[in-house]
Amino acid sequence: MTEGTKLVSIVSLAFSHQTIDRGEIKLVEFSVEPLHADFGARLHGLNLSADLSDLQLRDIHHAIDTYSFLCFPNQTLSDDNQLALTSRLGVAEVEHVTLGSTGRTSYFGSVGNINEEGIQQGNQHRDTRYQSGNHLWHSDSSFRHQPSYVSIMYPYEVPGEGGATEFVSQRAAYQRLGKVEQSTYQEMTAIHDYVFSRTQTAPVNFCHAASLPPVKHPLIRANPTNQLRNLYIGSHARSIVGLDGIESRRVIDLLLDNTTRPQDILSHNWQVGEVVIWDNRCVLHRGTGYDADRWRRHMRQTRVVGEHKGVL
Ligand SMILES: [Fe+2]
Repeated sequence: MTEGTKLVSIVSLAFSHQTIDRGEIKLVEFSVEPLHADFGARLHGLNLSADLSDLQLRDIHHAIDTYSFLCFPNQTLSDDNQLALTSRLGVAEVEHVTLGSTGRTSYFGSVGNINEEGIQQGNQHRDTRYQSGNHLWHSDSSFRHQPSYVSIMYPYEVPGEGGATEFVSQRAAYQRLGKVEQSTYQEMTAIHDYVFSRTQTAPVNFCHAASLPPVKHPLIRANPTNQLRNLYIGSHARSIVGLDGIESRRVIDLLLDNTTRPQDILSHNWQVGEVVIWDNRCVLHRGTGYDADRWRRHMRQTRVVGEHKGVL
C-alpha cells in the first residue's frame, strides 16, 4: 500500500457520497484502497473467477460509477473466466481489429508483444508499432457509434521495466472548468475518428479502416446513475462540429492539456494476476512504452458495450 492511502470499509465510507438510497442496499464486505485524489481504487476481497452474486455485481457497478478505475489483485482467470466476467457486467464488445480486418468475431484483444504462438515480437515488428497508437491519450472505443462502458484487462506477463499505463479522470477535469466553460462545452459535439488518430503512428488495414467511419459524440457526458458530468475527448476526437479545423484543434488540445496535467495522472504498473477495470465513459489512458526487444508483455483485454449511442 502506498503512503497516504488506507483500507476503508466500503460500508462505512467508500460510498458515503453516493446519492443512492443505501438504506435498501446491503453492500458486500469488500474493502477499498483509494489510489488518487480524483479517482481509482484497489478492491480487496473478491474472487472474480467465481460466479458473482447479484449483490457483488451491483457493488462492482457502483464502484465503477464512483471510482472509475478499479484494481482487483491476486486473481486467477482463464479466457473463459474473463469472458464470463465481462458478460456479467453487460454485453461483451466485439473486438474491432479482428472484425474489421478479417470479419471474424472475437471478444479479446491481446495487448503486448506475444503472438498467438507465444513468440515474442520486438520493437520493429508491425504489431508492436501498431500498438504504439495506445501511447496517445484515448478512451477505448470512443470511435464507435456505441462506445464502450468498461475495459477489463488481465495481465499474464509484464515487463520487468517500463510498460506502465497512465490514467486521468475526465470527470475531475470537467469539474475544474468554470461554469461558463462548462455550459459552453455542453453544447458541443465532437467527431471521433479512428483512422485519423491511429494513422498518426502506423498504417491501418484498409478493410479495418472502412469498417470504422467517423462518429459524433457529445463533448460532455453524464453518468446515468449519479449524473456526474465529464469531458469526453482523447486522441480519437478529431474535430468539433461547427468549428473549423484550427479552432477545433485549439479547443480539443486545450481541454486535453487541462485533463492530463502531471498531478492528474494515476500511473498504473501492471501486476501479473491483477485485474483492472476502467470506465471508458469518463477515463482517458495511454501507454508509456517498454523495450519489446528485451521484455515479454502479454495481457488480455475485453470490453463491455456502453449504454449511450452517438449522435446521428
Ligand atoms: Fe486503450
